[in-house]
This record gives sequence, C-alpha cells and structure tokens, in this order.
Amino acid sequence: MENCFGRSEYFTADFFADLAFRTKAAFRTDGSLLPAELRSDDRLIEKVLEEYLDNSDHGWIHCQQVFGQCCKIMLASPLLVRQAKKNDCLNRFKLEKVLAWSSAIHDLMRFFGGDFRNHQAQAAALAEKMFPEDSFLAPAIANCVRRHDYICLAVDGDVLPQSICDSPAAEIFRLADKISLTPDLEIRRYYETSKRHQTRFFDPDLPDELRFNLRRSHESWDQICYFLILFALQPDDFFFGETRDIYRGWSAGKKLAVQAIRAIALNEEKLEKSQADRIVQIIHDFQAAYQLERF
Ligand SMILES: [Fe+2]
Ligand SMILES: [Fe+2]
Repeated sequence: MENCFGRSEYFTADFFADLAFRTKAAFRTDGSLLPAELRSDDRLIEKVLEEYLDNSDHGWIHCQQVFGQCCKIMLASPLLVRQAKKNDCLNRFKLEKVLAWSSAIHDLMRFFGGDFRNHQAQAAALAEKMFPEDSFLAPAIANCVRRHDYICLAVDGDVLPQSICDSPAAEIFRLADKISLTPDLEIRRYYETSKRHQTRFFDPDLPDELRFNLRRSHESWDQICYFLILFALQPDDFFFGETRDIYRGWSAGKKLAVQAIRAIALNEEKLEKSQADRIVQIIHDFQAAYQLERF
C-alpha cells in the first residue's frame, strides 16, 4: 500500500506476521484478555487470526481501508499533523506507526469473543500488552482505539475523555474508521454485518420512541436503527476544524446512503415499494426530529 511517504511497511505479509506474533504474546502475558476456551491454545488463536484475515466487514480489508483513510487525512491536514507533535508528542513517522497499529487492532477483539460494546476497551487492553519494548506506542494506540466507535452524547450517553478529545491521533483515527468507505458502501457493510448477526432488517411495528432512542438498546433493534447512527453523526461531533471539514465533505454522500437502504429493501429484502418508502420516511423523520443536517 502507498502511504504519505511512498511504499509502506504496513499491511504487508510481514506486518501481519508481526501482528500475529505480538497478539499471541500479549494473550500469554495476560490470560484475562481472552475467553477461557481460547486461553493457552495457540492453534485456536491462529484459526481466529485467519478468520480476521479473511473477513471483509471488520477484518484485515476493513483495517487496511481505515489505514488508507488515515494516510489521506494526514496528507490533507498538515496543521493537524503538526498539532499531533504538540498534543500527542508524535512526529509524522510515529503518528503513522500509531495509526497503522490502531487500524490493525481496533476491531480485532470482535473476533476473540468481544461484542459491539466491549471490543474497544479490549483492544486498548491488548495494545497495552503488545509493545512491552516501546513506551510511547502502547499508550498512544490505546488512546486511539479505546473509544473509536464513539458517535455523540445522544448515542453514547457520555462525552469523550479529555485525553481523546485533545488528541489529533485519536481524532484522525476515529474519523478514518467512520469514512473508510463512501456512505452507501458503509451501509452495505453494516448490512453484511447485521445479516451475519441475524438482525431483522425492518420491524414495521417498532415505535418511533424506541427507534429514535439512540442509546443502543440492541435487543429490540432492527437494521434500520443501526443505519440511523450513520445519519446521527454530524461534523460538529469532531473536535478539530480539518476533521470537521473532511467529515462534512464525506457526508454529501449520505443522500446515496438513503438510496442504498431503499435498494436493499427492494432488491435483497424483497419488501413492497410502500415498505421501502416508509423506511425512507423514517430516516427523514429521524433527521427532522434531531434537527440533523440533511446535506
Ligand atoms: Fe469498532
Ligand atoms: Fe472499524
């Protein structure tokens, strides 16, 4: 993969081998990182790492796309890169290394028994154990991955810790993870993940009070609830001018995301046209209820 400096040493076969080696070593150092059935069984761990390598929605390909986006954001935001030197004590090379490793491990614990809620904290705990020889890398990566799925107060119910808000590295990373694909393809990625988890596509009886309560009340959610999160995130949920602008530019594609949801409803899910139109209306009602920018 090309990066800001030309050919990159990241996301190569050697990089994956290093990741596998460090992950297994971290699991040996701290058994509590793993569910009991995987502890001290290197063959099972290898098998899970293979699944991660092959998976397209949260595995290696996604991680590579996130890192590619990190590189683009760094190139487009020289002031933010300079700010990282001040706030994160990371020069360009170290920043790139932190973002590469954050990309590689941020969703990894989903494959080792972590769920949507806890895989972020687990990735941070893993990072703390993966680089015993390097005192700057572990805390910087942990800070990037600890709340990488954070959206906003209405969704997550809290504000980000100051160490994350003030960190250009964490900000670049959180943005890159959100915009690794165009909004319509991001919807397709959510769709593939939800299908794997056997989440119902559309429950017409789910009342708006429940659907529009964004506090991730998963048990009753259909896929449309997850799609709404893409519309809930706004440029102002980023803390630096450059990242706000980049997210605003990406958001122009949210119109195509609505069309992608409609197309899935009609083509893959074979819903009636009236049902597909109702889903589009739900998205528009949601945007009106929260006074969200429609772009
Ligand atoms: Fe994640
Ligand atoms: Fe991700």
